[in-house]
Amino acid sequence: MKNIAIFASGSGSNAENIANYLRGNNSNINISLILTNNPKAFVLERAEKLGIPSMTFSRTDFYETNKVIEALQSVDLIVLAGFLWLVPVDMVRAFPNKIVNIHPALLPNYGGKGMYGMRVHEAIVANKETETGITIHYVNEAYDEGQIIAQKKCRVELSDTSETVAQKVHKLEYEHFPKTIAQILS
Ligand code: GRF
Repeated sequence: MKNIAIFASGSGSNAENIANYLRGNNSNINISLILTNNPKAFVLERAEKLGIPSMTFSRTDFYETNKVIEALQSVDLIVLAGFLWLVPVDMVRAFPNKIVNIHPALLPNYGGKGMYGMRVHEAIVANKETETGITIHYVNEAYDEGQIIAQKKCRVELSDTSETVAQKVHKLEYEHFPKTIAQILS
C-alpha cells in the first residue's frame, strides 16, 4: 500500500478527483492526509465527505516548526493540488523527488510568482495564445522549475474567454493528474 498526502489551499476539486480515481481503480494507493493552510478552504469539507483525515496549519507551523514534516513521515508521495504557499526548503530536502505539483499552464511559460488560478488563463487570453495546458512537475528548491513529469495541451480559440480556458484546463487536470500520480508510484 502506498500513501500520499495532498496539499490544497482552496476548493480542492483536484484532491477529490484524485481520491475518486484511486478508489475507483482499485489502486494500492491511499490518501492518508489532506493538508491546507486555509482553515476556510472548501477542501476540508471535501476531505470530511471522503472520510480522509485533514490538517490545517499556520505560517508559523509551516515555516518555523517541523509539525507538517512530522505529519508526513509515512507518506510515499506529496501532491500539491492548488497549494499557494512556497514549500519550505527543509521540506523539499526532506522529500527529494517526492513532491509533485500541477501548474495550469505549459511551464516555463506562465509560471512563477503570482501566476496561479484565473490569472494564468487571463494572461493566456490577453496574449492570444493558440494553446495552453497543464504541467505536472517535481518541486525543487526553485519551485516551478523542478523536473517536468508530464505536459498535456489543449487549443485556445479566439472565441475563448478565461473561464472557458479554465474549464478546458481543469478537464486536462482531472483526466491526467490521477493517472500520473499512479504511474509515479507504480
Ligand atoms: C488548479 O487549476 C491547479 O492546476 C492549480 O490550482 C488549481 C486548483 O484547483 N495548481 P482545485 O483547488 O483543485 O479546484
